[in-house]
Amino acid sequence: MRILAIETSCDETAIALLECSGGLAAPKFRILKDALASQIKIHRPFGGVVPNLAKREHIKNLPVLWKKLKVADVDMRRVDLIAVTSGPGLEPALWAGITFAQELQKQLNATSDKRHVPLVGANHLEGHLYSFLLAEKKGVRYQVSGIKKLFPAVGLIVSGGHTTLMLLKDLKTRKKLGETRDDAVGEAFDKVARILGLPYPGGPEVQKIALRGDPSAIPFPRPMTDQKNYDFSFSGLKTAVLYHMRDNPRADKADVAASFQEAALDTLLQKTSRAVREFRAHSILLSGGVAANKPLRDKLAAAAEKSGIKFLVAEFEHNTDNAVMIGVAAYVNFLKKKKYPLVANGAMNIR
Ligand code: KG4
Ligand code: ZN
Repeated sequence: MRILAIETSCDETAIALLECSGGLAAPKFRILKDALASQIKIHRPFGGVVPNLAKREHIKNLPVLWKKLKVADVDMRRVDLIAVTSGPGLEPALWAGITFAQELQKQLNATSDKRHVPLVGANHLEGHLYSFLLAEKKGVRYQVSGIKKLFPAVGLIVSGGHTTLMLLKDLKTRKKLGETRDDAVGEAFDKVARILGLPYPGGPEVQKIALRGDPSAIPFPRPMTDQKNYDFSFSGLKTAVLYHMRDNPRADKADVAASFQEAALDTLLQKTSRAVREFRAHSILLSGGVAANKPLRDKLAAAAEKSGIKFLVAEFEHNTDNAVMIGVAAYVNFLKKKKYPLVANGAMNIR
């Protein structure tokens, strides 16, 4: 089955064509085409993503990416399903993707061997969550080996908008254990970067300067780790950094970055490890833009190894926003017979 996937929820415009096969017990993916245009440079002067600028850029980029895909040696008449992110995200940006997907559907219907190519919505957070299915590759195909043995699994989604802990019984059944009550962890990295005078997006910048700092220099709080739930809160931690810089204007920024990063990652680690113990999980699945953070990967990998369980995370480019993960989520939902409506829903969540 060939899925054409489109992602425009934030500041990346992306289109991918995937060949998907296998059932829920062994899904396999081959990336036939993958095109992405990042808007980071456009939003950087504003210190964050500007929704209407994002929309304008998506509208400009989508036809360019589509042309790139079409001239490539792939027969677009063989598309079986179109999937487009319908939420969560910035609504003007989401609509840009949905409208383009509808135009593509008309185009493909006119040229397709089949009479009708279906178009469905996709949940961006499911895209992140299921990106672990891209963590292992055999030849040209992505396929996780012994998938049954991964469950129950604890899935940690860490992005610029979300911080969510999920429990997966299998690919069909899951439950949300907890999520952030205020800022997402990526958002905290971005805000701390701004406090330290570093450019947007702040995550990679904070990670970089933290390398030169002492993670135990400042005892920043580990929010909500004393509470026996799986919720997070990162706004107080960000404020602690703000007050520290206000009271110590000459503080070593590398120490502040390293201490903040240590506090944020320690919080994620503690909650994830507790979920692993409580639910006797057989694996940890890490996803979302913050999964690009090397110390976070290292900490979770070490925790998994200590517990004798598996740790799965996709490559860097499939953790920051991309269309491949949207195709993966669309295939899982196709197998589950679950459909999302084609309406932009900025506040869509995962359950
Ligand atoms: O998943 P994503 O690309 O977009 C959303 O869905 O939000 O995540 C973007 C977030 C940003 O907050 C960015 O600062 C953060 O991921 N991020 C990182 C790193 N790379 C990206 N945070 C910490 N360390 C990194 N290396
Ligand atoms: Zn994302």
